[in-house]
Amino acid sequence: MQTINELLGAVLPEGKLVTATLSQPRRKEEGAYTKVAVKPVLLKNELHYQLAYHYEKKVTHDNLTPDDAFAKLSDLLENEMRQALFCTLEADYQVLISKKGKTGILKKPPTKKEAPNLSHNRKKTYVLDEGQPVPFLVELGVMNDKGRVLAAKYDKFRQINRFLEMVRDILPALPQDRKLTIVDFGCGKSYLTFALYHYLAVQEGFELNVVGLDLKADVIEHCEALARTLNYDGLHFRIGDIADYNEFDAVDMVITLHACDTATDAALEKAVRWGASAILSVPCCQHELFAQVRSETLEPLLSHGILKERFAALATDAVRSKLLDIVGYKTQLLEFIDMEHTPKNILIRAVKSGEPDTGALWQEYETFRNFLGAEPYLENALRDRLPSASTL
Ligand SMILES: C[S@@+](CC[C@H](N)C(=O)[O-])C[C@H]1O[C@@H](n2cnc3c(N)ncnc32)[C@H](O)[C@@H]1O
Repeated sequence: MQTINELLGAVLPEGKLVTATLSQPRRKEEGAYTKVAVKPVLLKNELHYQLAYHYEKKVTHDNLTPDDAFAKLSDLLENEMRQALFCTLEADYQVLISKKGKTGILKKPPTKKEAPNLSHNRKKTYVLDEGQPVPFLVELGVMNDKGRVLAAKYDKFRQINRFLEMVRDILPALPQDRKLTIVDFGCGKSYLTFALYHYLAVQEGFELNVVGLDLKADVIEHCEALARTLNYDGLHFRIGDIADYNEFDAVDMVITLHACDTATDAALEKAVRWGASAILSVPCCQHELFAQVRSETLEPLLSHGILKERFAALATDAVRSKLLDIVGYKTQLLEFIDMEHTPKNILIRAVKSGEPDTGALWQEYETFRNFLGAEPYLENALRDRLPSASTL
């Protein structure tokens, strides 16, 4: 092989490349990346190359089609980096470019013996692996820069992975051929918002417009600054109340994790009106039904505060999931993380399924709601979408 473009043309198009590393920047600039690592990945079943730019304290990623990777790597070797190692199963190719621009390509015996596992969708226990530094986890202090999870943050790491597994399972329900709009209501410190962005944009190659919304100005400013540090261009944070949030006409996925009491209902109402393809919600502090529920039959249970509280929380989740089913979602209730870590561990996962129910589900719901003697927020909020609209 005489030229870099001949080498790139031979190793990139059919996925022969196992790994590549570009190093030795021509100019030593403060804050610039010093190495670019390249590996093939499958995104939506299409071969891509992931370029990982290594800076002093962070790594950013870019997923490119083989043609775009060809153009980018050619440009990098022509203008920015003076050394590279391309590894295939047949041979390694060491590229050296002199200061005057003269290129030498040395073919060596292969050091890689196994083809890469290209799929990000392969089933594994964790979506994010320990041992591989993930920039947002390093910035949030969950991992060190070697990819080791700090002992005190292990529960957080497991929670993040559990959440991502639940997202992974519903990926087919999301539009695959255009930019996705996602809103995370009550995002707080946003560990899971950053995780979602990393997983969907960096690992899965989706184009994204993600917004995290919260009432707390200081937390939002911090998250916005972190998103800029990480170069997460499609992730932004806004200060505001869920009920007043009107930035979009349509949203593909709505997340609401531990937003307090009826803030969750306000988020669910928005999701339904936006026609979201998927909703993930972990309710919290379900006070509303606690104050409303009345039933002589349930007196032995309701007379104990602790039982009444738990019952009201479970009944709220039952009401919400049934209402989502009625307006056209397929709803599952899943254990978010182990009970030992928090009792607020039920995740409502709803995927848009099509036609709203007009009969049996509504009957079940009405019977249950009448038995509770309650008037749930979400029912009132969605009244125009429910079969009761004409009969109440
Ligand atoms: C318990 S934190 C959960 C944070 C994050 N979602 C998580 O699960 O780690 C709840 C967050 O919801 C926010 N919140 C509560 N009510 C809200 C509302 N009406 N509008 C926007 N944010 C709200 C709070 O400010 C708080 O940051």
